[in-house]
Amino acid sequence: MSPRSQDWFGRSGVNGFIGRSWLRNQGFTDQDFDGRPVIGICSTWSELTPCNGHFRELAEHVKHGVRQAGGVPVEFPVMSLGETILRPTSMLFRNLVSMDVEESIRANPLDGVVLLCGCDKTTPALLMGAASVDLPALVVSGGPMLTGRFRGKALGSGTAMFAMAEQVRAGTLSEREFREAESCMSRSAGHCNTMGTASTMACLTEALGMALPGNAALPAVDSRRRVHARASGARAVALVREDLRPSAVLTPEAFANAVRLNAAIGGSTNAVIHLLALAGRAEVPLDLDTIDTLGRDVPLLVDLQPSGRHLMEDFFAAGGAPTVLRELRPLLDNDTLTVTGACLGANNQLAPEPDGEVVRHLARPLTTGSGTAVLRGNLAPDGAVIKPSAASARLLVHRGRAAVFHGMDDFRARIDDPCLDLDEDSVLVLTGAGPRGYPGMPEVGNLPLPRYLLERGVTDLVRISDARMSGTAFGTVVLHVSPEAAAGGPLALVRSGDLIELDVPGRRLHLDVDAAELARRRTAWEPPAPAADSGYQRLYVDHVEQADRGADLDFLRGRRGALVRGDNH
Ligand code: FES
Repeated sequence: MSPRSQDWFGRSGVNGFIGRSWLRNQGFTDQDFDGRPVIGICSTWSELTPCNGHFRELAEHVKHGVRQAGGVPVEFPVMSLGETILRPTSMLFRNLVSMDVEESIRANPLDGVVLLCGCDKTTPALLMGAASVDLPALVVSGGPMLTGRFRGKALGSGTAMFAMAEQVRAGTLSEREFREAESCMSRSAGHCNTMGTASTMACLTEALGMALPGNAALPAVDSRRRVHARASGARAVALVREDLRPSAVLTPEAFANAVRLNAAIGGSTNAVIHLLALAGRAEVPLDLDTIDTLGRDVPLLVDLQPSGRHLMEDFFAAGGAPTVLRELRPLLDNDTLTVTGACLGANNQLAPEPDGEVVRHLARPLTTGSGTAVLRGNLAPDGAVIKPSAASARLLVHRGRAAVFHGMDDFRARIDDPCLDLDEDSVLVLTGAGPRGYPGMPEVGNLPLPRYLLERGVTDLVRISDARMSGTAFGTVVLHVSPEAAAGGPLALVRSGDLIELDVPGRRLHLDVDAAELARRRTAWEPPAPAADSGYQRLYVDHVEQADRGADLDFLRGRRGALVRGDNH
């Protein structure tokens, strides 16, 4: 069968001329148009996405591999999402990028695509777009940064920053030292070197079967990352020849493997929301309860920050995702097809044994039951999540009085006010930070503690919100409360002084206020004005789904395929 690109390049008349002639100004030859696979390299390079700042060079290595295998590489940009730069939050744009990816792939003469992604939202956005088009595709991640060091101590991206920020508030670290640590933390190209969202999503991409083995942990600046990029480019050509598409790889069993790996690596809570959205694109049934059930009996095997001690460079040396996937074999479906053309189990059978330190043996895990826990109750009828491995054991079963803040401006204005009279049993509640209400669901759920409690040595409080939190963050933080407050969820009805019960082992989140009083508050509640009245943000707030469904836009669910009807001239 002739490749899809021949519908552009293999034609006669004006439509053939127009497809070929303008590309010849890029140096394309007759050979490039002769029916060999055309591989798009979908790049999220941007100087405003520092984690992906090395992608122009990485793309050259992918191109080399494509050419070596007899394909034609064509690099194209899509909107990039710099987690640390974008306001109000990069999550607002994940779905927009997925649309950019989907339409760019479909509208161009591509037979397959290599997805170059790294920083948090770029991986789910590119996978979502590619899943909806369903042309042969695989992921090449940018790789994590090298380990940062400050005054003899390793600095984990994000995790160290949050910890040091609390030390500054507590008066145990000076502003000058905090500033000095800035340039010590991010010392090479690459994305966050903790098991934050970027590294988590890169690992899960391996479990899903959408990347070659070893993709996740190879440091960005390690020479083997270049070799990996070349091998991936070559493999993309083979994927086209084999007509191996994401729909054959992104199966329910592959998602189950990803959920289980996420538990074993102590992965980000953001992975839950991204997996739900990707499953929606891949037309795979997946919900919060399934995620809870799948992750519940999985032991924590990886000792990486923010749940543990080490960083991605250590994880790479200990074998990376292939070693964990190999060790997890008894808990996985090892027969799932991957982009290598072989199944997951075969891909990883030669991975190194766990070192027992960074990666633990299944028989000697760090903890058991490490998966993201899904809570329900009258405060979160459609669910909420918490990462037990990053929480304080003393707070996993807790009852305390709420201190409610409506939005981050309110929080910042009042959190240090001693009149709030907070103590170590208080429960901080934040509303108005969900997908629709903010808009975009920012990573603010790990609310900073009040200065006077930090000074007393309190290091954690139960915090509850409809927000997300950075995958690099930690604490007893209940997130993604659904429905969100702006959509009329019960979170909007909580008042300061109410008692809240959290029971993580029992999967319960309860507002201890009687039903009659809640009904009275419900009657008095008025929905907030839409968070945007025009432009993309209006489209977003009108169509974004709640966190328990992945916060995708409702009209983007499903696969739409690669067929294009109509010529451009
Ligand atoms: Fe880009 Fe963390 S800020 S991965």
